[in-house]
Formats: sequence, C-alpha cells, structure tokens
Amino acid sequence: MEKNSDTMEKVVSLCKRRGFVFQGSEIYGGLKGTWDFGPLGVALNNNIKREWWKMFVDGREDMYGLDAAILMNEKVWEASGHTGAGFCDPLVEDVETGERFRADHLLKEAGVDADGMTLEQINQEIKEKELKSPKGNSLSEARQFNLMFETQVGAQGDMKSYLRPETAQGIFVNFKNVVDSMAPKIPFGIAQIGKAFRNEIAPREFLFRVREFEQMEIEYFVKEEQWESEFEKLRQDIVKWHKHLGLSDENIREYEVPENDLAHYSKRTIDFEYNYPGKGFDELAGFAYRTDHDLKNHMDASGTTMEYIEPDGSRFVPHVLEPSFGVGRALTAVLCEAYTEDEMNGEVRTYLKLPKHLAPFRVAVSPLLKNKPELVEKAREVFKVLKTEFGNVAWDDNGNVGKRYRRQDEIGTPSCIVIDFETLGQEAPELADTVTVRNRDTGEQERVAIADLINYLR
Ligand code: GLY
Repeated sequence: MEKNSDTMEKVVSLCKRRGFVFQGSEIYGGLKGTWDFGPLGVALNNNIKREWWKMFVDGREDMYGLDAAILMNEKVWEASGHTGAGFCDPLVEDVETGERFRADHLLKEAGVDADGMTLEQINQEIKEKELKSPKGNSLSEARQFNLMFETQVGAQGDMKSYLRPETAQGIFVNFKNVVDSMAPKIPFGIAQIGKAFRNEIAPREFLFRVREFEQMEIEYFVKEEQWESEFEKLRQDIVKWHKHLGLSDENIREYEVPENDLAHYSKRTIDFEYNYPGKGFDELAGFAYRTDHDLKNHMDASGTTMEYIEPDGSRFVPHVLEPSFGVGRALTAVLCEAYTEDEMNGEVRTYLKLPKHLAPFRVAVSPLLKNKPELVEKAREVFKVLKTEFGNVAWDDNGNVGKRYRRQDEIGTPSCIVIDFETLGQEAPELADTVTVRNRDTGEQERVAIADLINYLR
C-alpha cells in the first residue's frame, strides 16, 4: 500500500486509541515535547531495547553494559562542549507575539540551508530575505539557545547540574572504571540505554523531535589505525539491526554527512535515515567516528588518564566510533513500516505487520463463546501454559471472534488461538485437545494440538 501523511496520522491515532503512546500530562493540557507510553507502547519499546541489547551486548564478546546517572557533575558538560555554542540552536522571536522559532527551520522553509552557518550569517540571511514569523510579523535577531535543561543539586541549590542531553558522556567518564574492572581487549565497546533531555525550541512531528527521549548508544574504542576497518564492521551491524526491526531496504538510506557539515571532532559520520510516511527520509540513527576528541577532553579537564595500556606496556588514548540510536524514532519507524491496510472478507482491515519478536503480544487466547464455562475453563488452561512460557500473552473474550481478530490485528498480535467445541472433543474425537491458530497476515487458520502449541508458536 502507498504510505503518505495520511498513514502517519492514522499511526498516531492508532497509537492513542490502542494504548501505545499518549500525550504527556494530557489531562492538564499536555506538556509539549513529552509523550507517555501506554501498556502496548511500553511493551513495544521494551522489545526494541531487549532485542538491541541482545544483538549489540549479549550477542558479542567485545561489548560491556553500563547504566550511568542522569545527573552528572557540571564539569562533564563543560569538558564535552555542551555548555558552549556547539550545543545551541539559533532562536528568533516574533516581536509582536513573543513566540519563539528556530531560525534555521524558518530559513529552510524559505529555501536557505542554514546548517553550519554562524549566527552572523543567519542574521544576514534573515535581513536579506526579509524573513517574517509564520504570523507575518518581524523577527528579533537570532541568538544562541542552549538545549540543556539546567537544574540545581542539593538543598542549598549550590551546585548547578543538567539533565543529560546524551547518554554518551556517561560512557566516556566511566571509560577508566570499565577498563580497570573488566580488563577488556581493544577494540571493545561500552553500551548504554537511557533517557536524555533536550529543551527543543520547537518540539514536533510526534516522537521525532521531543524534549525527553531514550537513547541506545555505544562508544566503541579502537586504535587509531583500526578505525576504518572497525567502522565498516559496525556499519554492517547497524544494517543488520535495521533489518531485525523489520524495516525494508528501500525505506532505509545511508546519508554520508559531507565533510563541511561534520562536527569539528568527527572525521566521518553516516546518518541512517528512514523514509517516514509523509515526511520522507530523515534521521533514524547516527554513526560517527569521533577520533580521540572525547577521551582527550576528559583527560585534560579531569586530570585522570584515559590511556589504555597494552599487555606490552605501550599506552595510547583510544579513538572512538559511536553508533547512536533513538528508541522513539525506532518505534515510529517500526510502526510506520508495519502499518498495513488490506481487504479481508470484503472489508478493509488495518493491521500491524510487526515481527514476532517486537509485537506487544506474541499470541492472544480466547474461548469461542464466553458464556460457556467449559470453553472458558479450557481456554484459561491454555492461556496459563502459554503465559508461563511467553509472558506477553493476551486474554481476549470481548465481542465475537471476528471482532477479536480485528482488534488483535490492529495491535499486531501475530497469532490468535480459539478454544471451541472441537477442542472439548464434542464434535469429532480426533480433534479433541486441538485448537485453531489464526495467522494475522494471511487470516488462515490451522488446527494445532495443545501439546504442540509452544513449539508451533516458536
Ligand atoms: N551522542 C550522540 C547523540 O546524542 O546524538
């Protein structure tokens, strides 16, 4: 099916209706740029994170996990450069209404690419183009707006801190701790999943640009001469990851960031982009070679050595490759990719073609009729066995079976099991203790013995 901005709207509406994603603080009018994950959203998010951890940490010998604090000493952010202009967005105000906008976004809409421009160049462009606010009013001069949320630590509020804007720095400042405690052999990586916060001037586009989000990041430490070969290996791992999420090749693009747009410390960056319906290709994950910039900065600023010592006694500051993924963006891409409309039994149906390892529920179990105690009892038995095995199993006895199938299709449940009179042996003895298993994608049903269900579903 053709996917466009209508698809995106339908996905957002399904997310709310079926308990994937709700607007943050909704009953108080919301808080822009925040979203709450409902029962199915948290299940999908957890599945994405678990699969990521399995692939990038548990599935390898060269990766170490970490869970660093969100609040860090403010010196971390001075050393990393986040308190400076490098972590600012250019902000302009509508002089009449006081509304604030990102100058680079307004310029982009006017056909000017402001990426990499200085504040002076941006102000020059605004003047030359006689740029106005979306309400047609004049704009203030652009100024730098730092994206970090500031906070105070302690009862006296005597120490400034920030909600971390990336998980990466928690990894760098623990580099020495991990080396000293785990004695890893280079090349090796440290992986972390956690929340990060950015005070975006204009949060928008559902989960795409938000103020509170979750990252899955790896800092991979190499010898300088290894960076190109290790970069290629990790690039291929990222390709595999996106396939594992069920994202199709034609919807993924690798954008090689041109040299003049690279961050000053990066020698190569690839943005992995997804073709979001109605939006087009935009960032899904980033992959950067950051040289030895981060460890050197922390070594200079903290006075703690960040050198790695080889068994032969030689020492060096490792170089770093950084694959960085946003959980919310992965979830958005997965839902957009899975969203499908087809025709079944002469009716349009909506379903999420989610991979089995990501679906919030692996399987749903129901009795054919909920007012027949013998059917309900048998169905509960099957449900309990499957729930013990898989955990994410739904019990669904609302409405008729056709409606249950539609409901489970819409949330991507791969299989639905129905316990009927045949199961009880009341129709034909050879069908006793068998159930129907319906396939979400084809709508086809098979008869499977209860004793074989677990293997069948695997
Ligand atoms: N650490 C890279 C990022 O947060 O985008």
